[in-house]
This record gives sequence, C-alpha cells and structure tokens, in this order.
Amino acid sequence: MEAKRIVLIMGGGIAAYKCLDLIRRLRERGVDVRVVMTRAAQQFVTPLSVSALSNDRVFTDLFDLDDEREIGHIRLSRLCDLIVVAPATADLIAKAANGHADDLASAVLLASDKQILMAPAMNPKMWLNPATQRNVRQLEADGISFIGPAVGEMAESGEAGPGRLVEPAELLAAIEARLHPSSSGSLAGRHVLITSGPTHEPIDPVRYIANRSSGKQGHAIAAAAIAAGARVTLVSGPVTLGAPAGATTVQVQTAEEMLNAVRAALPADVAIFCAAVADWRAASPADEKIKKTGDGEKPQLELVENPDILKTIAHMKTGRPNLIVGFAAETENVIAFATRKRRNKGADWTVANDVSTHTGVMGGDRNRVHLITETGVDSWPEMSKREVAETLIARISALLHDKARRV
Ligand code: C5P
Repeated sequence: MEAKRIVLIMGGGIAAYKCLDLIRRLRERGVDVRVVMTRAAQQFVTPLSVSALSNDRVFTDLFDLDDEREIGHIRLSRLCDLIVVAPATADLIAKAANGHADDLASAVLLASDKQILMAPAMNPKMWLNPATQRNVRQLEADGISFIGPAVGEMAESGEAGPGRLVEPAELLAAIEARLHPSSSGSLAGRHVLITSGPTHEPIDPVRYIANRSSGKQGHAIAAAAIAAGARVTLVSGPVTLGAPAGATTVQVQTAEEMLNAVRAALPADVAIFCAAVADWRAASPADEKIKKTGDGEKPQLELVENPDILKTIAHMKTGRPNLIVGFAAETENVIAFATRKRRNKGADWTVANDVSTHTGVMGGDRNRVHLITETGVDSWPEMSKREVAETLIARISALLHDKARRV
C-alpha cells in the first residue's frame, strides 16, 4: 500500500508527551509523520526528542526560508493525507476557528486543503467555556472533526471533567480510519444516517424547551457504523460531545432543522433515529426576552406539535431507507409501549430502554435495551452505550447481508 503521510501539529499542554508514543506507533505502521510544534508545545517536549522519533526535522516557525530544507507553510499543509492537531489547545482551536495565521501551526491549518482531525486537551472549564464550544461548533461546521476530549482528572489541577487528550491508541485508530477508509467492513459502501442528542426549541431569545439527552448513544452508534466501514451522516442536536471522527456531522438546534437536515442527507441505506426530539415547540417564539410583569401574571405559552421525523421518513413513498430503526425511551411498560410505537411510527425496529429516574440512563454511560422487530423482542443484558452501539450495528450488518444473499 502507498505510504501515507500526516502532519502532526502539537499544541502546548502537558498531554504533548502522549504524542511521542503516537509518533512511534504511526511510524511502526509505515506512516510518515511530519511535526509542527507551537512555541508553547516546545515548553513541554523538546523538538529534539520529537525529531528523533519522527526521523525528520521538526517545523517550529514560519520564517526560515533561507534554509534550503524549508518548504514553507503552504507546501507543508498540502504534502500530506491528513493533518492531526494534538493536543489541540483552546488557543489553537480559537485561532483555527477565526482564521488566524500568525504562527506556523495556524498558518498551516488555514492554508490546508486536507482533512483535519483535532484531539483537544485542556482544563475542563476551558473546554466547557462557551467561547471554546462556539469555536468547536464553528470548526465542525467547517468540516473539521474532533476526537475527545476524554473525561477524567486533570494532571495539573486534579479537577475532573471533559478535557483529557484521548489515549494514543484511540487517536491512532481514528487516524487509521481516515487514512484507510474501510473497503472491507461489514457496512462498506452503505450510507447510514443517524440522529442524536436533544433538540432545543426556543421560547424567546434566552429560553428554550429541551430534555436530558446527552447524545452519547447516538454518537456511539455513529462511531460503530464508521468502524464497520459505513459512510455516516450524523445529524446532531446541541451536545457537548465531539463529533465522531470520520462522520459528516450536521449540527442543528430544533426539530424542524433536524427534519430538514435528515431530508437533505437522503438517500440512505439505514436510518437510525436516536435523537430525543422535543415533542412540542412554542407556537410563536418571542422576539424579545419575555419579562416578569411584577404583578404575578404568568405568560401564556402556546405549544404546537413538532413534526415526527422518524414517522415522516418511515412513511416516504419513494426513497425510504431500507432499514429504519427508532428508539423508545420509556419510564414504564417499556416493551409494550415500544412495540406499539414501532407499529405506529412505521419503523422496522425499535430499540427500547427504561429511562425512569432510578436507571440513570439519560445522560449515563450504560444502557439496558430491548430490540423489538417484526418477529419479536430480544432483551440484551446491561452494557455500555458503546457496546449497545456495536451490537446494534452488528445486527444491522447481519440483516443487510442476509437480504443481499436472498436477492
Ligand atoms: O414518540 P417518541 O418521542 O417516544 O419516539 C421516539 C422515537 O421517535 C425516537 O426514535 C426519536 O428519535 C423519534 N422521534 C422523531 N421525531 C419526533 C419525535 C420522536 O424522529 N418529533
């Protein structure tokens, strides 16, 4: 196979040391790694040690064009198959989101016409800061994908939360998936469309109707489908998770936007509706913030029903995906309600789960589900959301292969 090359942009952060292991593993797999280090990165790891591992000079500044080995930021940004930013600091993310080019790292990102994968690492408060979240959303909308950050304790402060650089093995897998898109996975050549997360329905410019969905299950399904070689479109409501590497992610806020994005992404072989879409929206959201009158008068909030995205797509006369999977989050009579929902909505399968408060499923990392098909109910043991995703994708692959054999 033709040798692949990545440009690795290292930002400044304690996690930079993990890149040494990443570079070693990439080189073992025959991937050429050319490294750009920001000034801050050089405070954590020396260019000399990076150079020894990458077996190449390390690029550290824009202007050294007298040096005959210098190739300039434009060529640097083009002579590769993929650009990886790790650790992607809040500052690098902000620069990229705003098109800055005042150092080599940001200039390479701005000049690039290649795929870019960012692996953020920073203090949890910095990650959750609205400015960073806004920048990440902007970059995702620009086609840049993210892996992580992982949740855990910070090395420097002991604070816990999302902000850790993903482990080298995970980053390596995401890089390899991009360098060698699977042509042999069980879903190779299939387009899988997934909705995930909640929707936000505005009441006025500052208030909205929402729910507790984290998007973890839908995003995990997207990752599992990518790992199985599918082309994946993920239509996601507002979540704090990064988009899975390799998916085309469309960010939406409301149910109506989600329906439009789903329609625009068709045709698809499989559609999995995992989003917790708000059932109602405000009939006419106020243009200005609704004020308290001071005399106890309550605002009248008139609600109208949102379109049922799953039902709409399942009832399409032409262009209906071959397999439609719905989710049914219930707090009682889980299987009975979910079975009825499968029929009423026109889904082929429903994945039912118990979200009564004691299960902690909404927002949690584990799930206990029942798969309801035309022929019966299959109850799976409790497992992680990642395992639920992988099991579901395996079932879907088996069904599609079965169908293909019968044709
Ligand atoms: O009716 P309920 O919200 O419980 O149905 C859940 C299923 O329907 C999920 O698959 C969800 O993604 C989908 N749904 C939808 N559009 C809606 C409401 C639910 O796609 N407006």
